[in-house]
Amino acid sequence: MSKTTLFSSFNNKSLSLDNRIVMAPMTRQFSPDGIPTSDVAGYYRRRAEGGTGLIITEGTTVNDKVATMGATIPRFHGEDALAGWKQVVDEVHNAGGKIMPQIWHVGMARVAENAPFPELPSAGPSGLFKPGKQGAEPMTVAHIESVIEAFAEAAADAQRIGMDGVEIHGAHGYLVDQFFWEGTNQRTDSWGGSMENRGRFAVEIIKAIRAATSKDYPIVLRYSQWKQQDYTARLAKSPQELEQFLQPLSEAGVDIFHCSQRRYWENEFDGSELNLAGWTKKITGKPTITVGSVGLNDDFFGAFKGQDSSTRSVDDLLERLDAGEFDLVAVGRALLQDPSWANKIKEGRTDELEQYSGKSLGSLS
Ligand SMILES: Cc1cc2nc3c(=O)[nH]c(=O)nc-3n(C[C@H](O)[C@H](O)[C@H](O)COP(=O)(O)O)c2cc1C
Repeated sequence: MSKTTLFSSFNNKSLSLDNRIVMAPMTRQFSPDGIPTSDVAGYYRRRAEGGTGLIITEGTTVNDKVATMGATIPRFHGEDALAGWKQVVDEVHNAGGKIMPQIWHVGMARVAENAPFPELPSAGPSGLFKPGKQGAEPMTVAHIESVIEAFAEAAADAQRIGMDGVEIHGAHGYLVDQFFWEGTNQRTDSWGGSMENRGRFAVEIIKAIRAATSKDYPIVLRYSQWKQQDYTARLAKSPQELEQFLQPLSEAGVDIFHCSQRRYWENEFDGSELNLAGWTKKITGKPTITVGSVGLNDDFFGAFKGQDSSTRSVDDLLERLDAGEFDLVAVGRALLQDPSWANKIKEGRTDELEQYSGKSLGSLS
Protein backbone atom coordinates (compact mmCIF):
# COMPACT_ATOMS: atom_id res chain seq x y z
CA MET A 1 0.00 0.00 0.00
CA SER A 2 1.39 3.39 -0.97
CA LYS A 3 2.21 5.88 1.73
CA THR A 4 2.84 8.66 -0.77
CA THR A 5 -0.22 10.72 0.14
CA LEU A 6 0.22 10.27 3.89
CA PHE A 7 3.73 11.65 3.62
CA SER A 8 2.95 14.41 1.15
CA SER A 9 2.82 18.07 2.12
CA PHE A 10 -0.39 19.90 2.97
CA ASN A 11 -0.98 23.63 2.64
CA ASN A 12 -3.88 25.70 3.86
CA LYS A 13 -3.63 29.46 4.25
CA SER A 14 -0.52 30.15 6.37
CA LEU A 15 -0.23 26.49 7.39
CA SER A 16 2.21 24.23 5.63
CA LEU A 17 2.75 20.70 6.83
CA ASP A 18 5.33 18.11 5.82
CA ASN A 19 2.86 15.25 6.09
CA ARG A 20 -0.77 14.43 6.84
CA ILE A 21 -0.35 13.02 10.35
CA VAL A 22 -1.95 15.08 13.12
CA MET A 23 -1.69 14.44 16.84
CA ALA A 24 -5.24 14.38 18.22
CA PRO A 25 -5.96 16.62 21.21
CA MET A 26 -5.64 14.66 24.44
CA THR A 27 -6.29 16.08 27.86
CA ARG A 28 -3.64 15.38 30.43
CA GLN A 29 -3.66 17.10 33.73
CA PHE A 30 0.03 17.93 34.09
CA SER A 31 -0.05 21.74 34.23
CA PRO A 32 -0.05 22.93 37.86
CA ASP A 33 -2.21 26.05 38.28
CA GLY A 34 -2.97 25.73 34.59
CA ILE A 35 0.61 26.55 33.53
CA PRO A 36 2.28 24.16 31.05
CA THR A 37 5.70 23.20 32.39
CA SER A 38 8.92 22.30 30.57
CA ASP A 39 7.84 18.64 30.90
CA VAL A 40 4.77 19.46 28.82
CA ALA A 41 7.01 21.15 26.23
CA GLY A 42 9.20 18.04 26.13
CA TYR A 43 6.14 15.80 25.69
CA TYR A 44 5.04 17.71 22.58
CA ARG A 45 8.63 18.16 21.28
CA ARG A 46 9.07 14.37 21.26
CA ARG A 47 5.96 13.96 19.06
CA ALA A 48 7.38 16.59 16.66
CA GLU A 49 10.77 14.84 16.64
CA GLY A 50 8.93 11.59 15.94
CA GLY A 51 7.70 12.98 12.62
CA THR A 52 4.15 14.14 13.48
CA GLY A 53 3.14 16.74 10.87
CA LEU A 54 0.81 18.78 13.09
CA ILE A 55 0.23 18.66 16.82
CA ILE A 56 -3.13 19.73 18.21
CA THR A 57 -2.65 20.26 21.92
CA GLU A 58 -4.79 18.93 24.71
CA GLY A 59 -7.85 21.07 25.40
CA THR A 60 -6.71 24.36 26.96
CA THR A 61 -9.27 26.67 28.47
CA VAL A 62 -10.43 30.13 27.49
CA ASN A 63 -10.66 33.04 29.89
CA ASP A 64 -13.88 32.37 31.79
CA LYS A 65 -13.81 31.38 35.45
CA VAL A 66 -15.95 28.32 34.83
CA ALA A 67 -14.29 27.17 31.59
CA THR A 68 -12.19 24.48 33.27
CA MET A 69 -12.85 21.23 35.12
CA GLY A 70 -9.59 21.12 37.05
CA ALA A 71 -6.65 23.21 38.23
CA THR A 72 -4.05 21.13 36.36
CA ILE A 73 -5.71 21.48 32.97
CA PRO A 74 -3.67 24.09 31.11
CA ARG A 75 -5.17 27.55 30.67
CA PHE A 76 -4.82 29.52 27.48
CA HIS A 77 -4.99 32.91 29.17
CA GLY A 78 -2.85 34.83 31.61
CA GLU A 79 0.76 35.71 30.88
CA ASP A 80 2.09 32.89 33.13
CA ALA A 81 0.27 30.16 31.20
CA LEU A 82 0.95 31.77 27.83
CA ALA A 83 4.67 31.92 28.63
CA GLY A 84 4.51 28.16 29.26
CA TRP A 85 2.78 27.66 25.91
CA LYS A 86 5.38 29.85 24.20
CA GLN A 87 8.04 27.43 25.38
CA VAL A 88 5.98 24.54 23.97
CA VAL A 89 5.68 26.33 20.60
CA ASP A 90 9.38 27.07 20.44
CA GLU A 91 10.43 23.51 21.24
CA VAL A 92 8.02 22.03 18.70
CA HIS A 93 9.17 24.48 16.02
CA ASN A 94 12.83 23.78 16.80
CA ALA A 95 12.09 20.11 16.23
CA GLY A 96 10.58 20.94 12.82
CA GLY A 97 6.95 20.48 13.87
CA LYS A 98 3.78 22.57 13.73
CA ILE A 99 1.32 23.10 16.56
CA MET A 100 -2.13 24.54 17.34
CA PRO A 101 -3.90 24.79 20.70
CA GLN A 102 -7.34 23.27 21.12
CA ILE A 103 -9.26 26.04 22.83
CA TRP A 104 -11.96 24.81 25.15
CA HIS A 105 -14.80 25.62 27.49
CA VAL A 106 -16.16 22.57 29.29
CA GLY A 107 -19.58 24.05 30.03
CA MET A 108 -21.81 21.79 32.11
CA ALA A 109 -19.23 18.98 32.14
CA ARG A 110 -17.59 20.92 34.97
CA VAL A 111 -18.19 19.55 38.46
CA ALA A 112 -18.03 22.74 40.51
CA GLU A 113 -16.58 21.22 43.68
CA ASN A 114 -13.60 19.74 41.81
CA ALA A 115 -12.85 22.90 39.85
CA PRO A 116 -11.35 26.32 40.51
CA PHE A 117 -14.00 28.78 41.82
CA PRO A 118 -16.17 26.00 43.28
CA GLU A 119 -18.62 28.62 44.55
CA LEU A 120 -19.58 29.52 40.96
CA PRO A 121 -22.21 27.53 39.07
CA SER A 122 -21.17 25.86 35.81
CA ALA A 123 -22.30 27.33 32.49
CA GLY A 124 -24.42 25.87 29.72
CA PRO A 125 -27.01 27.11 27.24
CA SER A 126 -29.82 25.70 29.38
CA GLY A 127 -27.85 24.70 32.48
CA LEU A 128 -28.26 21.05 31.48
CA PHE A 129 -25.41 18.52 31.41
CA LYS A 130 -27.76 16.10 29.71
CA PRO A 131 -31.50 15.91 29.17
CA GLY A 132 -33.16 16.01 32.58
CA LYS A 133 -29.93 16.80 34.46
CA GLN A 134 -30.30 20.45 35.45
CA GLY A 135 -27.15 21.73 37.14
CA ALA A 136 -27.44 25.51 36.81
CA GLU A 137 -29.52 28.35 35.45
CA PRO A 138 -29.27 28.92 31.67
CA MET A 139 -26.38 31.17 30.65
CA THR A 140 -27.21 34.85 30.41
CA VAL A 141 -26.71 36.53 27.05
CA ALA A 142 -23.99 38.70 28.63
CA HIS A 143 -22.15 35.53 29.69
CA ILE A 144 -22.55 34.02 26.22
CA GLU A 145 -21.07 37.16 24.68
CA SER A 146 -18.15 37.24 27.09
CA VAL A 147 -17.28 33.60 26.33
CA ILE A 148 -17.34 34.36 22.59
CA GLU A 149 -14.91 37.20 23.29
CA ALA A 150 -12.74 34.84 25.39
CA PHE A 151 -12.41 32.43 22.45
CA ALA A 152 -11.39 35.35 20.21
CA GLU A 153 -8.79 36.54 22.72
CA ALA A 154 -7.36 33.03 23.01
CA ALA A 155 -7.01 32.84 19.22
CA ALA A 156 -5.33 36.24 19.08
CA ASP A 157 -2.92 35.09 21.80
CA ALA A 158 -2.28 31.86 19.90
CA GLN A 159 -1.23 33.84 16.88
CA ARG A 160 0.86 36.24 18.99
CA ILE A 161 2.92 33.44 20.58
CA GLY A 162 3.51 31.72 17.25
CA MET A 163 0.94 28.90 17.25
CA ASP A 164 0.31 27.75 13.67
CA GLY A 165 -3.47 28.04 13.90
CA VAL A 166 -6.22 27.38 16.38
CA GLU A 167 -8.73 24.57 16.92
CA ILE A 168 -12.10 25.27 18.52
CA HIS A 169 -13.30 22.34 20.65
CA GLY A 170 -16.84 21.99 19.39
CA ALA A 171 -17.13 18.24 20.08
CA HIS A 172 -17.94 15.57 22.66
CA GLY A 173 -20.65 17.35 24.62
CA TYR A 174 -18.65 20.31 25.97
CA LEU A 175 -19.91 23.90 25.86
CA VAL A 176 -19.94 24.57 22.10
CA ASP A 177 -21.51 21.14 21.53
CA GLN A 178 -23.99 21.79 24.36
CA PHE A 179 -25.26 24.64 22.16
CA PHE A 180 -25.33 22.40 19.06
CA TRP A 181 -27.22 19.55 20.71
CA GLU A 182 -30.97 19.72 21.32
CA GLY A 183 -30.50 17.50 24.36
CA THR A 184 -28.67 20.31 26.19
CA ASN A 185 -29.92 23.38 24.35
CA GLN A 186 -33.55 24.07 25.08
CA ARG A 187 -33.34 27.84 24.79
CA THR A 188 -36.20 29.67 23.18
CA ASP A 189 -34.24 32.82 22.26
CA SER A 190 -32.02 33.27 19.19
CA TRP A 191 -29.35 30.92 20.67
CA GLY A 192 -31.59 27.85 20.63
CA GLY A 193 -34.43 26.11 18.81
CA SER A 194 -33.60 25.62 15.12
CA MET A 195 -30.37 24.01 13.88
CA GLU A 196 -29.31 27.47 12.71
CA ASN A 197 -29.90 29.02 16.14
CA ARG A 198 -28.10 26.19 17.93
CA GLY A 199 -25.14 26.74 15.63
CA ARG A 200 -25.07 30.45 16.26
CA PHE A 201 -22.77 30.31 19.30
CA ALA A 202 -20.10 28.57 17.20
CA VAL A 203 -20.72 30.88 14.24
CA GLU A 204 -20.19 33.93 16.45
CA ILE A 205 -17.02 32.40 17.92
CA ILE A 206 -15.64 31.70 14.44
CA LYS A 207 -16.41 35.23 13.25
CA ALA A 208 -14.90 36.77 16.38
CA ILE A 209 -11.76 34.65 15.95
CA ARG A 210 -11.48 35.69 12.33
CA ALA A 211 -11.78 39.35 13.34
CA ALA A 212 -9.12 38.93 16.04
CA THR A 213 -6.56 37.13 13.85
CA SER A 214 -5.17 37.70 10.38
CA LYS A 215 -7.12 36.57 7.31
CA ASP A 216 -4.70 33.76 6.54
CA TYR A 217 -4.69 32.31 10.07
CA PRO A 218 -6.10 28.76 9.97
CA ILE A 219 -9.23 28.08 12.04
CA VAL A 220 -10.03 24.43 12.68
CA LEU A 221 -13.37 23.34 14.13
CA ARG A 222 -13.63 19.95 15.82
CA TYR A 223 -17.11 18.49 16.06
CA SER A 224 -18.67 15.10 16.69
CA GLN A 225 -22.03 13.46 16.36
CA TRP A 226 -21.50 11.49 19.59
CA LYS A 227 -21.60 13.05 23.04
CA GLN A 228 -19.94 11.94 26.26
CA GLN A 229 -23.48 12.18 27.66
CA ASP A 230 -24.89 9.87 24.98
CA TYR A 231 -22.69 7.90 22.61
CA THR A 232 -25.62 7.34 20.24
CA ALA A 233 -26.63 11.02 19.98
CA ARG A 234 -26.47 12.60 16.52
CA LEU A 235 -26.58 16.23 15.46
CA ALA A 236 -27.45 15.27 11.88
CA LYS A 237 -29.37 12.14 10.91
CA SER A 238 -29.05 12.61 7.15
CA PRO A 239 -26.69 14.29 4.67
CA GLN A 240 -29.30 17.06 4.29
CA GLU A 241 -29.26 17.78 8.01
CA LEU A 242 -25.49 17.66 8.03
CA GLU A 243 -25.45 20.26 5.28
CA GLN A 244 -27.79 22.50 7.29
CA PHE A 245 -25.46 22.13 10.25
CA LEU A 246 -22.17 22.67 8.41
CA GLN A 247 -22.94 25.35 5.88
CA PRO A 248 -23.22 28.30 8.30
CA LEU A 249 -20.06 27.18 10.12
CA SER A 250 -18.16 26.91 6.86
CA GLU A 251 -19.39 30.32 5.70
CA ALA A 252 -18.45 31.88 9.03
CA GLY A 253 -14.83 31.05 8.30
CA VAL A 254 -13.82 27.52 9.30
CA ASP A 255 -10.79 26.50 7.23
CA ILE A 256 -10.50 22.86 8.25
CA PHE A 257 -13.09 20.58 9.87
CA HIS A 258 -11.91 17.96 12.35
CA CYS A 259 -14.53 15.24 12.40
CA SER A 260 -14.44 13.11 15.52
CA GLN A 261 -15.51 9.49 15.22
CA ARG A 262 -14.81 6.42 17.32
CA ARG A 263 -13.65 4.42 14.26
CA TYR A 264 -12.69 6.08 11.00
CA TRP A 265 -13.72 3.03 8.93
CA GLU A 266 -17.41 3.36 9.85
CA ASN A 267 -19.70 4.95 7.30
CA GLU A 268 -21.73 7.89 8.53
CA PHE A 269 -24.97 7.36 6.63
CA ASP A 270 -26.50 4.29 5.01
CA GLY A 271 -25.90 3.92 1.30
CA SER A 272 -22.39 5.39 1.18
CA GLU A 273 -19.04 4.34 2.54
CA LEU A 274 -18.00 7.90 3.32
CA ASN A 275 -17.12 8.52 6.95
CA LEU A 276 -17.93 11.75 8.82
CA ALA A 277 -14.84 13.52 7.46
CA GLY A 278 -15.71 12.30 3.98
CA TRP A 279 -19.22 13.73 4.13
CA THR A 280 -17.99 16.96 5.67
CA LYS A 281 -15.48 17.47 2.86
CA LYS A 282 -18.08 16.61 0.22
CA ILE A 283 -20.61 19.05 1.65
CA THR A 284 -18.37 22.01 2.48
CA GLY A 285 -15.54 21.59 -0.02
CA LYS A 286 -13.16 22.34 2.87
CA PRO A 287 -10.28 20.09 3.91
CA THR A 288 -11.05 17.66 6.71
CA ILE A 289 -9.27 15.65 9.38
CA THR A 290 -10.44 12.15 10.18
CA VAL A 291 -9.81 10.47 13.54
CA GLY A 292 -10.79 7.41 15.49
CA SER A 293 -8.85 4.23 16.25
CA VAL A 294 -6.08 4.88 13.71
CA GLY A 295 -3.58 2.06 14.10
CA LEU A 296 -5.67 0.40 16.80
CA ASN A 297 -8.41 -2.22 17.04
CA ASP A 298 -10.33 -0.95 20.03
CA ASP A 299 -11.95 2.46 20.27
CA PHE A 300 -10.98 4.98 22.92
CA PHE A 301 -14.13 4.86 25.06
CA GLY A 302 -12.47 2.11 27.09
CA ALA A 303 -9.22 4.08 27.39
CA PHE A 304 -10.44 6.06 30.36
CA LYS A 305 -10.87 2.80 32.24
CA GLY A 306 -7.27 1.91 31.37
CA GLN A 307 -8.19 -0.48 28.54
CA ASP A 308 -5.36 -1.59 26.21
CA SER A 309 -5.62 -1.99 22.45
CA SER A 310 -3.80 -4.12 19.92
CA THR A 311 -2.42 -2.56 16.75
CA ARG A 312 -4.32 -2.55 13.45
CA SER A 313 -3.10 -2.06 9.89
CA VAL A 314 -3.51 1.38 8.34
CA ASP A 315 -3.85 0.09 4.76
CA ASP A 316 -7.57 0.88 4.48
CA LEU A 317 -6.86 4.36 5.87
CA LEU A 318 -4.25 4.99 3.18
CA GLU A 319 -6.71 3.92 0.49
CA ARG A 320 -9.31 6.39 1.72
CA LEU A 321 -6.73 9.17 1.98
CA ASP A 322 -5.48 8.42 -1.54
CA ALA A 323 -9.06 8.58 -2.80
CA GLY A 324 -9.33 12.09 -1.35
CA GLU A 325 -12.08 11.22 1.12
CA PHE A 326 -10.28 13.43 3.69
CA ASP A 327 -6.99 15.31 3.84
CA LEU A 328 -5.46 14.70 7.23
CA VAL A 329 -5.42 11.88 9.74
CA ALA A 330 -5.42 12.46 13.48
CA VAL A 331 -3.87 9.90 15.77
CA GLY A 332 -4.64 9.80 19.47
CA ARG A 333 -3.66 6.89 21.69
CA ALA A 334 -1.14 5.40 19.27
CA LEU A 335 0.85 8.65 19.53
CA LEU A 336 0.38 8.78 23.27
CA GLN A 337 1.95 5.36 23.45
CA ASP A 338 4.67 5.94 20.89
CA PRO A 339 6.05 9.43 20.13
CA SER A 340 7.79 8.04 17.02
CA TRP A 341 4.62 6.55 15.53
CA ALA A 342 4.80 8.72 12.38
CA ASN A 343 8.44 7.92 11.61
CA LYS A 344 7.88 4.22 12.22
CA ILE A 345 4.98 4.17 9.75
CA LYS A 346 7.02 6.17 7.24
CA GLU A 347 9.99 3.84 7.47
CA GLY A 348 7.88 0.68 7.44
CA ARG A 349 9.02 -0.24 10.95
CA THR A 350 5.56 -1.58 11.84
CA ASP A 351 7.05 -4.45 13.82
CA GLU A 352 8.44 -1.80 16.17
CA LEU A 353 5.08 -0.15 16.86
CA GLU A 354 4.25 -0.43 20.53
CA GLN A 355 1.02 -2.04 21.69
CA TYR A 356 -1.22 0.59 23.25
CA SER A 357 -1.34 0.19 26.99
CA GLY A 358 -4.07 1.86 29.02
CA LYS A 359 -1.33 2.71 31.50
CA SER A 360 0.17 5.31 29.13
CA LEU A 361 -2.62 7.65 30.14
CA GLY A 362 -0.98 8.47 33.43
CA SER A 363 2.54 9.09 32.17
CA LEU A 364 4.28 12.16 30.87
CA SER A 365 6.50 10.53 28.30
C1 LIG B 1 -6.67 10.49 27.28
C2 LIG B 1 -7.51 11.13 26.24
C3 LIG B 1 -7.80 12.47 26.35
C4 LIG B 1 -8.57 13.11 25.38
N1 LIG B 1 -8.80 14.46 25.46
C5 LIG B 1 -9.41 15.11 24.44
C6 LIG B 1 -9.47 16.54 24.40
O1 LIG B 1 -8.95 17.26 25.27
N2 LIG B 1 -10.11 17.11 23.36
C7 LIG B 1 -10.69 16.37 22.36
O2 LIG B 1 -11.27 16.94 21.44
N3 LIG B 1 -10.62 15.02 22.37
C8 LIG B 1 -9.96 14.39 23.35
N4 LIG B 1 -9.82 13.01 23.31
C9 LIG B 1 -10.26 12.28 22.10
C10 LIG B 1 -9.08 12.14 21.12
O3 LIG B 1 -8.70 13.38 20.57
C11 LIG B 1 -9.42 11.21 19.95
O4 LIG B 1 -10.51 11.74 19.23
C12 LIG B 1 -9.77 9.81 20.42
O5 LIG B 1 -8.82 9.34 21.36
C13 LIG B 1 -9.86 8.83 19.26
O6 LIG B 1 -8.59 8.71 18.66
P1 LIG B 1 -7.69 7.37 18.92
O7 LIG B 1 -8.63 6.24 18.70
O8 LIG B 1 -6.61 7.50 17.89
O9 LIG B 1 -7.19 7.43 20.33
C14 LIG B 1 -9.08 12.37 24.29
C15 LIG B 1 -8.78 11.00 24.20
C16 LIG B 1 -8.00 10.38 25.15
C17 LIG B 1 -7.67 8.92 24.99
